[in-house]
Amino acid sequence: MRRTGHVFHRKLSGELPTAVSGRECFVFSEDGRSWLDASGGAVVVNLGHGRPEIAAAVSSQLQEGYYFHPTMFTNPTVEKLAERLAAHAPKDISRFYFMSSGSEAVETALKLARQIHVCRGSHSKYKVISRWKSYHGLSIGALAATGRTAFRTPFAPMLPQSVHIPPPYCLRCPWKHTPSSCSLDCAEALDEAILLEGAETVSCFLAETVSGATLAVYPPPPGYWRRIREICDRHDIVLIQDEIMCGMGRTGAWFASEHYGMEPDLLCVGKGLAGGAIPISAVGVKEGLYETVIENGGFVHGGTFSHHPVGAAAGLATLDILENEHLVERVAEFGQLLGTTLQEHLQGLPWIGDIRGLGYMWGVELVADQKTFHPFLRQDKVTERIFENLFGRGILLYKAIGLGTESGDGLVIAPPFTAGEAEFQKIGSELAQAIQDVLS
Ligand SMILES: Cc1ncc(COP(=O)(O)O)c(C=O)c1O
Repeated sequence: MRRTGHVFHRKLSGELPTAVSGRECFVFSEDGRSWLDASGGAVVVNLGHGRPEIAAAVSSQLQEGYYFHPTMFTNPTVEKLAERLAAHAPKDISRFYFMSSGSEAVETALKLARQIHVCRGSHSKYKVISRWKSYHGLSIGALAATGRTAFRTPFAPMLPQSVHIPPPYCLRCPWKHTPSSCSLDCAEALDEAILLEGAETVSCFLAETVSGATLAVYPPPPGYWRRIREICDRHDIVLIQDEIMCGMGRTGAWFASEHYGMEPDLLCVGKGLAGGAIPISAVGVKEGLYETVIENGGFVHGGTFSHHPVGAAAGLATLDILENEHLVERVAEFGQLLGTTLQEHLQGLPWIGDIRGLGYMWGVELVADQKTFHPFLRQDKVTERIFENLFGRGILLYKAIGLGTESGDGLVIAPPFTAGEAEFQKIGSELAQAIQDVLS
């Protein structure tokens, strides 16, 4: 059925209720329905809906002044946000380039990595290595790095050259390792790809610190990121961590890299940076790399809406709430309870392949065969049907599709940081019921 009106919606078929308000963990529609937002939309609404402090900060900035061209002026709100982010960021990440969307942050990081090599005189280094089963954004450069086949296929002829290695996805380890036999071949695959391409041609390695929607959340095995760091250092490769989904406290640390005892060169954040109130993203840059660029000609980039004071005001209000309400600590404290609650409700079901996660970022993988982990056929649209069933029950989760190859089903559970045991129980019991409704 074709919708009336003039909006070219993202979802072109099926129901699209009219949302009119959001409060705490809930979204409300015009026709009086409500939904428990158990994924914060697209893992964005980290502080809950309708935060008056963010609305007040945005309103005040709008009245003070809402646009100062970023090559003509700086402004105190942006300066303050960068300073506050630097205080929480991994060691040496001390400069922030602000954009609007996560895709723009990724584009910025890819271009900056190349510019760093040009500034050092390494003009031959331009290739991007990333991972299969990843998502980095909708723009052509970010999509080229993305490893989600269904998103790439329609545009494949337009995508610039990119090299992909397998992700750390132990459940379907291509080398058939178990945790006890793991020798981090998935990290060594980067070394091999660099050598095959020629290290003198490779600019950067880009990857999600904790895999998000494409792998239904997958924290990497111990040692993975340190090995990646060593390999990047050995070959003079800029290491970019995409924390657009997993950063800003989502995993129970300000930045997910903290869990892995290493630091990236460039760090992308977005989504939760302003809790969904205003589009704002950022690339954090190591001081030494920033120096390299400013001393050798600068960064050829742009952004009409870069360094936007209104986005920065929302970001500052978000940081105030995270700090004052100790929400990152709360996620660290209660994250495991979210995981165990999901396990209690779901583990008896014969289609659960795996439940994994960190902080308030969990994934449930669904399989046709629990022994072999064989996925459902893609045409069965298992994720979509469970999502719709839950939607009808008043619960919002985030879809993860393509975990196997093009098949492979999962759901992401990522509630606002204010959620607690009552919400976890509701999510677990409704999800169990929805899975049984669809698959029994
Ligand atoms: C890990 C990751 N990187 C990049 C992006 C792109 O961000 P945006 O949709 O804000 O452009 C997303 C969005 O889902 C993401 O999850």
